[in-house]
Amino acid sequence: MFQAIPAPKGDPILSLITAYNQDPRTSKIDLGIGVYKDDHGITPVMEAVTLAEQKLLQANGSKSYQGLTGDEQFNESIANLLLSGTKALECSATLQTPGASGALRMLADLIAVTAPNATVWISNPSYVNHRPIMEKAGLAVREYTYLDPQTKAVDEEAMLAQIAQLGANDVVLLHGCCHNPSGADMSFAAWQKIAELANNNGFLPFIDIAYQGLGDGLEEDAKGLQYIANNVEEFVISTSCSKNFGLYRERTGAAIIVSQSKTAAMNSRGKMCELARGSYSMPPAHGAAIVDTILRDDQLNQIWRNELTAMNVRVNGLRSALVEEFRAATQSNRFDYFGAHKGMFSLTGISDEHIAQLKDQFGIYIVGGGRINVAGLNSSQVKPLVAAFVTIGA
Ligand code: LMR
Repeated sequence: MFQAIPAPKGDPILSLITAYNQDPRTSKIDLGIGVYKDDHGITPVMEAVTLAEQKLLQANGSKSYQGLTGDEQFNESIANLLLSGTKALECSATLQTPGASGALRMLADLIAVTAPNATVWISNPSYVNHRPIMEKAGLAVREYTYLDPQTKAVDEEAMLAQIAQLGANDVVLLHGCCHNPSGADMSFAAWQKIAELANNNGFLPFIDIAYQGLGDGLEEDAKGLQYIANNVEEFVISTSCSKNFGLYRERTGAAIIVSQSKTAAMNSRGKMCELARGSYSMPPAHGAAIVDTILRDDQLNQIWRNELTAMNVRVNGLRSALVEEFRAATQSNRFDYFGAHKGMFSLTGISDEHIAQLKDQFGIYIVGGGRINVAGLNSSQVKPLVAAFVTIGA
């Protein structure tokens, strides 16, 4: 049965983990997968998470099944984190999912069931898993103009002109904040325009927000999403606790549907439960319990927010250091975009040859297309990274 299956190509991001781990060079630098590391190169368990785990252990809860919707307390907490104070909250329904990838897939499956001929529009470029997830759900995928490769900023005029052509059979996948892979976020004015276009033309905004709190702060990073929530009746959200709670391997995320009525949202969630039952069945509990414990406890909440701010400060410090070092090394402002970008990533756009050279000659691992995970750097690696770029002429 399985003889004809060809060898796998390997995931463009995940395969870098193995290659990096197998590299014996002590000077190697891992700028591949989007994980935050501290200045010692460690991805720490956040203090708020450890304290929440202690609390959960003391409470001696059960390991029995939770059901298809996952942890309903978590669902309420995570919906509040994103939608509190908006009119969308009361017409929303939330499904706990295995990470945001699980949410993307459940929402894609839901769209495929209700609107099988819909086209999902993703930004060019977009998160490498957006297209495969949508296509595996059976949906057509097309790209809208997003990044200006010269300025490394969003070409909003071109983007909005294209989105203005879309209609009722279209889904527009937007990055809530900290665009992956580019780091270039659109302006608040662009969010406002997209809301207006969605209302006039009838396309469905689909907001993937996996980095809330890693750009300008928890509230600021949700501003665009909240504008949609106050001005558009129907939209969907996929969200992740991997990065902002550091819960990567716990696979903690959620799919949120906002519709014209609570009933419509709940029925849509019910449909996703059916779809989930035919696949992974129920989401894992531990990460969701941690997040809910933190969000319901004032003290833990504050500890978590402080830790998130400290992570932000560190990444922004690295961004400034990169700008300075590149300016000094190239006598130009060609790399100033590192300072303008938000969140973990910046897309350098360097060639495949340069990416291979960085890996082979210097043990520097970055994702195809030239995405650098700035949050994976430590301060002592800024100089060698910049020197390597200059040496290969990238
Ligand atoms: C990334 O983009 O590096 C992360 O979102 C990890 C993943 O699941 O691809």
